[in-house]
Amino acid sequence: MIAVTDDKQISKEFFNEWIGSRGPKGWVGRYISNTGRWYTDMLIKEAGIKPDDEILDVGCGSASMIAKLLEKVDLKQPVFGVEPSEAQLELANRTLKENDLTAKVDLRQGFASPLPFEDNSFDVIYASFIIKHFTDETLDDFFKEALRVLKPGGRFLGWEFAKITNRVFKKLASNPKKAMQSFRTFADIKLVLEKTGFKNITEFEVKNRGFWDPVEDMGFKAIKADSSVQTVDSRPLIVENKADGY
Ligand SMILES: C[S@@+](CC[C@H](N)C(=O)[O-])C[C@H]1O[C@@H](n2cnc3c(N)ncnc32)[C@H](O)[C@@H]1O
Repeated sequence: MIAVTDDKQISKEFFNEWIGSRGPKGWVGRYISNTGRWYTDMLIKEAGIKPDDEILDVGCGSASMIAKLLEKVDLKQPVFGVEPSEAQLELANRTLKENDLTAKVDLRQGFASPLPFEDNSFDVIYASFIIKHFTDETLDDFFKEALRVLKPGGRFLGWEFAKITNRVFKKLASNPKKAMQSFRTFADIKLVLEKTGFKNITEFEVKNRGFWDPVEDMGFKAIKADSSVQTVDSRPLIVENKADGY
């Protein structure tokens, strides 16, 4: 049996409650869950997505990004998504059904670690706005798993809030269930990627949209080179920049 650490359980429950509730919280949650699609063009450009790429979206939420990706690129293989929250998966299945995409997507319920896939399975793995919910240990495990399931030459991309300075967002981020925890700079992330064994690690600009504007983001890209080997212990030392209330 796989142990699910507290941060994973807390985060999953937070999203279930947030997205699944009937009140205003639920509406806000569902709306925010659909904003991932805004970042699809950036993903296509930064990952250099090609029609025959095999792609995995980790923490895919409502699958709004997967749906947009399939609308923009005529992918030859199904896109895979992993998502722990039942409420998010329900939204995702609805999105795919409404867009007639169910046959082109394979969604799995699960966490970023362990990833339920064989070694060397994907050309591209991406993680959109999920890693702030990870402790250092969970992040470390996720990067090791991403390296394992990427094919040699595969591209690993992610983006996330790096710093919150705006007072309103700080308040939003400091929810009592602590689903939002750690804001990391590119330098923090690069250190972990290097220790995990990724190569060619670069940063790219994430242009925020709409109400996310006051939040600073960072995007990272890394390659699994033929020479990428996993280190025995790549536990990172992350300087946490927590929002008020932690
Ligand atoms: C802010 S949402 C982003 C959803 C989607 N990636 C997007 O950009 O629209 C964060 C997602 O990460 C998922 N998540 C949280 N902890 C996770 C974990 N340990 N492994 C995988 N996904 C996780 C949540 O359930 C939620 O769906």
